[in-house]
Amino acid sequence: MTKISKKRVLITGGASGIGKLMGGACLAKKAIELIIWDINERALKDTTKEFKIKGYSVSSHLVDVSDLQQIQDTSKLVLQKGPVDILINNAGIVTGKPFHQQNSSAITKTLAINVEGVMQITRAFLPAMIEQKSGHIVNIASAAGMMSNPNMSVYAGSKWAVLGWSESLRIELEALKGDLHVTTVTPGYIDTGMFDGVKAPLLLPLLKPKVIVAAIINGIEKNKLFVRKPFMVNTLTFVKGILPTRAFDWFVGTVLGVYKSMDEFKGH
Ligand SMILES: NC(=O)c1ccc[n+]([C@@H]2O[C@H](COP(=O)([O-])OP(=O)(O)OC[C@H]3O[C@@H](n4cnc5c(N)ncnc54)[C@H](O)[C@@H]3O)[C@@H](O)[C@H]2O)c1
Repeated sequence: MTKISKKRVLITGGASGIGKLMGGACLAKKAIELIIWDINERALKDTTKEFKIKGYSVSSHLVDVSDLQQIQDTSKLVLQKGPVDILINNAGIVTGKPFHQQNSSAITKTLAINVEGVMQITRAFLPAMIEQKSGHIVNIASAAGMMSNPNMSVYAGSKWAVLGWSESLRIELEALKGDLHVTTVTPGYIDTGMFDGVKAPLLLPLLKPKVIVAAIINGIEKNKLFVRKPFMVNTLTFVKGILPTRAFDWFVGTVLGVYKSMDEFKGH
């Protein structure tokens, strides 16, 4: 019996990438129901079928997490069956370009999916968790929310926002003194295709999806406040805090190669 067994788990962006792997892992841990929200209809159908064939209880909803009306309508539908116990805010997109080349719609869309969607979805499910005095919100941010990086300023800004919000939410929920938890996840580059073309920096090797997923599941089971991978991500705040900005730029940007890592970015 683990913390995940007999729980209702909702994962946004759960039809592919690490969202799909986290769904599979939760089902293997005997989640009573997996609810998948995704915008990709084909992937949603395929993933749902794949899990159902194995005998698991899965419900899937075609939802664009940047659309408030869809969030409100679909969350009502999900809540008719009872509270969601574990909500994993995973859906996210990246727009990888120098900021002066960004168009305004890409900025709006990135913030709507990566930031506002995460907050609105949490807002929809949190009251039922508070009422039952138990629940776990997992927010998939990024190491990009902890260090600046050229060619991903909009993405970094969006994940920076998620970090500040997620930590504030954690402190609020802890004050309520129930079995309410928030885990903030800050991975480096993961080999899912989202960041195709990037050159993994020194000491920040490309993460295998199953490695970060195992760490997130472990984080849920142990009510961890943070899941940071690879190891170097644990040191970022400290290194940034003690080094003058130019020295940080030289070490992280030039020596480790972070500031050149997006030069050949292609994405999905
Ligand atoms: N891949 C990486 O290198 C990396 C690194 C750090 C953090 N992350 C974060 O991890 C999360 C998952 O990343 P991934 O690599 O698995 O990405 P992915 O692109 O492989 O999967 C993302 C999923 O989200 C869905 N999605 C996209 N827009 C949506 C929308 N508007 N509404 C609903 N669903 C939507 C997609 O259809 C897809 O199924 C993201 O939040 C990402 O920012 C990824």
